[in-house]
Amino acid sequence: MSEILLQIDGREVEAKEGMTILEAAQNVGIVIPTLCHHEKLEPYGACRICTVEAEIRGWTKLVAACLYPVEQNLVVRTRSEKIDKTRKMILELLLAHAPDAWDLQDLAKEYGADKDRFEKEASFCIHCGLCVRYCAEVKKKNAVGFVDRGTRREISFIPEIASKECWNCKECFPLCPTSALQAAYVLVEALAFPKSSFESELDLKG
Ligand code: SF4
Ligand code: FES
Repeated sequence: MSEILLQIDGREVEAKEGMTILEAAQNVGIVIPTLCHHEKLEPYGACRICTVEAEIRGWTKLVAACLYPVEQNLVVRTRSEKIDKTRKMILELLLAHAPDAWDLQDLAKEYGADKDRFEKEASFCIHCGLCVRYCAEVKKKNAVGFVDRGTRREISFIPEIASKECWNCKECFPLCPTSALQAAYVLVEALAFPKSSFESELDLKG
């Protein structure tokens, strides 16, 4: 892998071919906010909070740092008025789904985002896909997936798999930036082990 030299926030940064801007920045301690990124998972590009400005051959564009590959002589800015405005808007949209999420509130403070700007559609899930992708890519279980589309999209555990696999795992819980996953799991737990079916089983045995 050949060395690539780029500039991030005015600093000369060395990176390897195939790395993303986010990886190159993290290697030298430059912080870019992320919500849907996880180093063990394939880049997903869902939240866009990692938006940065990338300038190459005189053209500047907004790109997702977790997806965009480094290039020789790329000039990256991780903060600017435009970037901050973009992140503020993204946060305001996400806060409509999960107004009480700590991760979002911390970022909202930093970017001056107003959690009441958009009408609440509190699904508590911001569709980062971390739980779904972690279960599929790392655990290879596919116990949790997305159901529905658009703003109604939400996660759902597949009871048949969840009842066997999730009890001893739960590794996706702490990944959730809104902490909604636990509640979702409890819900599925109820679906997977409905009291009535236990009772009827006991009745049958009795
Ligand atoms: S439940 Fe949490 S981890 Fe899963 S997709 Fe929604 S926000 Fe992301
Ligand atoms: S962290 Fe890059 S799009 Fe979510």
